[in-house]
Amino acid sequence: MENVRSQDVQTTTTSPPAAMRVIHLDLNEEESRRQMAASKYGGICFHVGIAAMLCLMLIVLICSAPIGSKVSKLSAEERYARQRQMYVDKERRLRMGGQMGLSPLEEEANSRLMAVKQVDEEVHHLWQNYHSQPPPFLSHLNISDTNLYAALKSMPKGGLLHVHDSGMLRTDILIDLTHRDNLWVCVNLDQGFEDFRFSRYFPHIPPAGDYQCNWMLMRNFIEFEPHTEFVDRLRESLIVRPEGYESSVELARHLRRHQRLIHGLITFRPIWRDFIFTMLHDFYSDGVQYVELRSSLPIMYDLDGKNSTILETAEAIVSVSNNFKDTYKDFYGVKLIYAPSRDFNDSRMDEYLANARLLKFHYPNFFAGFDLNTFGDECNLPLLGKVTQLLRINKDIDFYFHAGESKCPDSSRPDANLLDALLLGSKRIGNSVNLPFHPEIMKALQVLKVAVEICPLSNHYLQYFNDFRQHPAAYLIAAGFPIVIGSDYPYFWNSAPLTDDFYVAFVGVVSGWGNLRLLKQFALNSFLYSSLNETERNVAVTKWRCNWNRWVSNFVNNSGVTDTNK
Ligand SMILES: *[C@@H]1O[C@H](CO)[C@@H](O)[C@H](O)[C@H]1NC(C)=O
Ligand SMILES: *[C@@H]1O[C@H](CO)[C@@H](O)[C@H](O)[C@H]1NC(C)=O
Ligand SMILES: *[C@@H]1O[C@H](CO)[C@@H](O)[C@H](O)[C@H]1NC(C)=O
Ligand SMILES: *[C@@H]1O[C@H](CO)[C@@H](O)[C@H](O)[C@H]1NC(C)=O
Ligand SMILES: *[C@@H]1O[C@H](CO)[C@@H](O)[C@H](O)[C@H]1NC(C)=O
Repeated sequence: MENVRSQDVQTTTTSPPAAMRVIHLDLNEEESRRQMAASKYGGICFHVGIAAMLCLMLIVLICSAPIGSKVSKLSAEERYARQRQMYVDKERRLRMGGQMGLSPLEEEANSRLMAVKQVDEEVHHLWQNYHSQPPPFLSHLNISDTNLYAALKSMPKGGLLHVHDSGMLRTDILIDLTHRDNLWVCVNLDQGFEDFRFSRYFPHIPPAGDYQCNWMLMRNFIEFEPHTEFVDRLRESLIVRPEGYESSVELARHLRRHQRLIHGLITFRPIWRDFIFTMLHDFYSDGVQYVELRSSLPIMYDLDGKNSTILETAEAIVSVSNNFKDTYKDFYGVKLIYAPSRDFNDSRMDEYLANARLLKFHYPNFFAGFDLNTFGDECNLPLLGKVTQLLRINKDIDFYFHAGESKCPDSSRPDANLLDALLLGSKRIGNSVNLPFHPEIMKALQVLKVAVEICPLSNHYLQYFNDFRQHPAAYLIAAGFPIVIGSDYPYFWNSAPLTDDFYVAFVGVVSGWGNLRLLKQFALNSFLYSSLNETERNVAVTKWRCNWNRWVSNFVNNSGVTDTNK
């Protein structure tokens, strides 16, 4: 097993041996000769007639004779090897990144990277106990300790096109925030936290939705409970339970609570801007140069319960991001995918769409599009195509829907929303892990150049897949389908903003045939399939390419060469 794997890696890293290349050329020649014969045949047949046709058949026969004898001179082994190589080459070309050109320096970086990966796999026994308890494969090591992780972290990974603002509040900051004055917490019957609010007075905010709780002052909690216990309980409400959830409804409720808790803290007016800045900094230091942020644009409030407007929330992101770009010139910036959460009756849909129009009107260069957050509970919500307002919207608002993430038990609506997202003209589709089961939709999306956003760690932690090697994205990549890597709610499972998802995509999902070509394609796709217009894209790609070239050069200079020829 180990041997096969390392051989696979070898063939992807080194250029094909001379013999292989000759065979490859032969095949091409043969093909072009056949084509030439065919076109000659067609032309003459048309103009001259049957006599000439007979003549030509003779010529074709003579022409093909030497080829025939050459083939028959091959031994059975050679013939077999030739056929085999043909399939290998075809699939390699088809695969995502298969046509990616690499400079000589990048080729060198590629072999170093593959060597690092191989050593990592051997040292850390990455594939041992793969099928043990969740989370398998990551449970016995901290991936951030590996050399491969370090390489991927420093690598300029381009844009991040699927991430939610509520998934970007670091746990340590969150815990610090809960120690501030005037913080209230809404506690349910099981002593669990449902909501936070900074307020000078008792907050008269009734629970809205599928939960019940009572407000009390946070200070009281901290007084009566040992600190570690409090922190553990807080963490509990913000991570995914390892033993899983009974249903998608229960999981969605948990995710909604998570978003509510985070928003209660960060939309306190004095905190929001700091939060945005820290988030941008975290993206930037993780090798991300451009972000399309999904946010419901929560309304900011102050200690006296005075609310601001959605435009003020947006304005804060725009201005903080502009300041950030002034300091970090190679950061391209942030665009917004306005993604309010969907309720069962879509009772607020008109309000949401009015907000989208308002945002686009005021911030045409910041507003990228519209999405509805279902928290993975698509099966229990009406189909997107049933929302009549969406059908009537003109081309003025672009859609970036989540669709095809759920496993609906109801066979009358398999993989809800995927088809609707296609028909509604979604520009990309989020977390669409069910796509490979729909070859017609796949074909259409490929023609329309609609990419799918894949967030492998989210799929794992939200318990859609246990084994990364069986992840549907592996098929999409093998078939050359356009995908981009996202991270969804990375701090929810204590991951980096993007590197961890790159790592599991590279090591887990594509395993044997991942290489620098693929990684470069991931990065380029994040611009190609972004909402950036052509002018913007050129600027962004130029910024990325500059960092990329520096990284390649640095990586080749600094990574050890010792193991490449082992
Ligand atoms: C991973 O790191 C944490 C702290 O950073 C440590 O407690 C834990 O033991 C490490 N796990 C492994 C398997 O090395
Ligand atoms: C502020 O908004 C919240 C909902 O986010 C609402 O419950 C509250 O009544 C609003 N306060 C004012 C003064 O409008
Ligand atoms: C939403 O739909 C449910 C089920 O159809 C219904 O019971 C409920 O009254 C509706 N709520 C609103 C606010 O329309
Ligand atoms: C592209 O976006 C920029 C702003 O980011 C804008 O100034 C420019 O007009 C846009 N170009 C096109 C062709 O829409
Ligand atoms: C890497 O080494 C080469 C040759 O020694 C040098 O020209 C290049 O500047 C170095 N690159 C970096 C980023 O240090």
